[in-house]
Amino acid sequence: MSSLLIYNIGSLVTPHAQTQLRLAGDSMGNIHIQTHAAILVEDGIITRIGDSATLLHELRTTHNTATLASIRMLDANGMTAIPGFVDSHTHLVFAGNRAQEFALRARGKTYQEIAAAGGGILSTMRATRNASAEELLHAATKRLDTMLRYGTTTVEIKSGYGLNTTSEFKILEVIAELQRTHPITIVPTFLGAHAFPPELRDSPEEYIDRICSEMLPEIQARNLATFCDAFCEQGYFSLAQSERILRTAQDLGFRLKLHADQLSAFGASELGVRLQAVSVDHLECTGHESIRSIAASSTIATALPGASLFLRHSYAPVRALIDAGATVALATDCNPGSSMTISMPLMMTLATTQMHMSPEEALTACTLNAAAALLLSHEYGSLEVGKKADILLADVSHFYELAYYFGVNHIVRVIKHGEIVV
Ligand code: NIG
Ligand code: FE
Repeated sequence: MSSLLIYNIGSLVTPHAQTQLRLAGDSMGNIHIQTHAAILVEDGIITRIGDSATLLHELRTTHNTATLASIRMLDANGMTAIPGFVDSHTHLVFAGNRAQEFALRARGKTYQEIAAAGGGILSTMRATRNASAEELLHAATKRLDTMLRYGTTTVEIKSGYGLNTTSEFKILEVIAELQRTHPITIVPTFLGAHAFPPELRDSPEEYIDRICSEMLPEIQARNLATFCDAFCEQGYFSLAQSERILRTAQDLGFRLKLHADQLSAFGASELGVRLQAVSVDHLECTGHESIRSIAASSTIATALPGASLFLRHSYAPVRALIDAGATVALATDCNPGSSMTISMPLMMTLATTQMHMSPEEALTACTLNAAAALLLSHEYGSLEVGKKADILLADVSHFYELAYYFGVNHIVRVIKHGEIVV
């Protein structure tokens, strides 16, 4: 058995989940803080949490010298321990970048204008189609390495910059390779319905046929994705088109996510609720009716404030969602067009300064509820006995500073499945 004792933790801060798989509405602020704490990890699982001095004393008196010597000791030096961040919405596998478009937007062009001129998702599609699997793997690994240093220990990655069978499979295989090679836990999502490929612009139904009869069955057979997602938006996939793809996926055994209400609201989030999607994501334009129906459902509302910041757009109405009783998660949406960041602490800053969330709610949204949005909150998302030992040590005296002192990296140590990886 491999054991690790993290002692001398100034304060251990975690969503207080106990047996709950998510914290909804008012309970999102249920954060448990224990000062002078220690965590015992055995075989990658948290087996004890207690007072640091007491736990150290107990181990010394109940274990013989040989067993004691086999326990790795990590002095937290009074730092703050929180659960590893879960980034439940990213488009991390892509080639090239869109810094040129970023500069155009700085000079006043809109995201939609750039897309209409052949840029946007399609410019990344061209670069991604032209890249080899090795190049994509290299670029994505670099981003994952940075994520890990910023405290993300679980991440969802979507395909969606291939937009034909060959290139979508190339991306999904890169994601599968990352699962084998990177310490971060990775959840794959198929987003073939991200945009229509230019070669099928005049026969969109043909692309949807290919997604439904060519791509989805094979992805399922080869177990290359847990979730199926679609970009339900004007100029992208309509309600009917999204529904056809998502129902086909659901019948094959995929779980569902949906890009909903980002640039306009015409019922996408309600479609997600109707199809019992695990999450509806974005929600910048979500109105009162939809807020009520999301809150009354088990679908998680995932806000992506990086995209609002980057596109100078409105923020999702998370305050109203939480007050109505919804389960809210936060994610980076890391992608080259609308949110080029990997930083979950930055999402906490945006949540607290722009979206009226408390730091407690923001922490829950970045950990436990985000794990729930990936159906992983039975194992990840809180520091509690029985959970996987994904633990961050941050050089802050109070966890509020993670959101408050922004734009710097406070994460000093990252423990993944009980191993010190940063
Ligand atoms: O989540 N909304 C659609 N997809 C991405 C943007 C993708 C891109 O611009 O490359 C998003 O914001
Ligand atoms: Fe997205």
